[in-house]
Amino acid sequence: MRGKPKIAVFISGNGSNFQAIAEQVVTGALAVELSLLFSDQPEAYGLKRAEKFSVPTLQLSPGDFTNRQTYEEAILKKLQPLELDFIVLAGYLRIIGPTLREAYPQKIINIHPSLLPAYPGLNSIAKAFAAGEEETGVTIHYIDEGVDTGPIIAQEKVVISPKDSEASLMEKVQQVEHRLYPQVLQEIILKQKGSYHEKSVD
Ligand code: GRF
Repeated sequence: MRGKPKIAVFISGNGSNFQAIAEQVVTGALAVELSLLFSDQPEAYGLKRAEKFSVPTLQLSPGDFTNRQTYEEAILKKLQPLELDFIVLAGYLRIIGPTLREAYPQKIINIHPSLLPAYPGLNSIAKAFAAGEEETGVTIHYIDEGVDTGPIIAQEKVVISPKDSEASLMEKVQQVEHRLYPQVLQEIILKQKGSYHEKSVD
């Protein structure tokens, strides 16, 4: 890996996890180059956050393409010149299809607001709260062809106290996400660099 690893962050909405990542890039705690913020939604607030951090943005709407394959081929065409090391999903509300998966094997990472395999899919915090769980949490994992089913990299528990509301629980989970995602990304990068150095010794 030459220089800092290059990452693209994919979002669909608010982008608070993107912001947490960008802040750690600014402090230097996360040693990556933020090459791109991609959004499938033109109104995603995260696009504005990216402008504030001077991160290049790309927005493509799936509705403008005939199917997922042509949509992902258009994304891939834009990504290829960037020579990305990782794609970081942060609230990107779409399944990644074979076109992108096969172009970036073991390089697409996702964050999910539950202790997977519990509560995959949408509205995981609300579902855990409504079920009266005593704890939920955050999972960071590599993606595979399923919905929130890929190999787990890291998990952290969040206790649900009797005093919690759904809103307070959401805040607690997001606080963990914002700390954990940049930290785990940095760990993944250090491991990759380690294996690169080992390989390059002989
Ligand atoms: C996060 O809770 C993340 O775990 C889930 O979607 C949410 C995105 O939030 N995949 P934000 O857009 O980063 O604020």
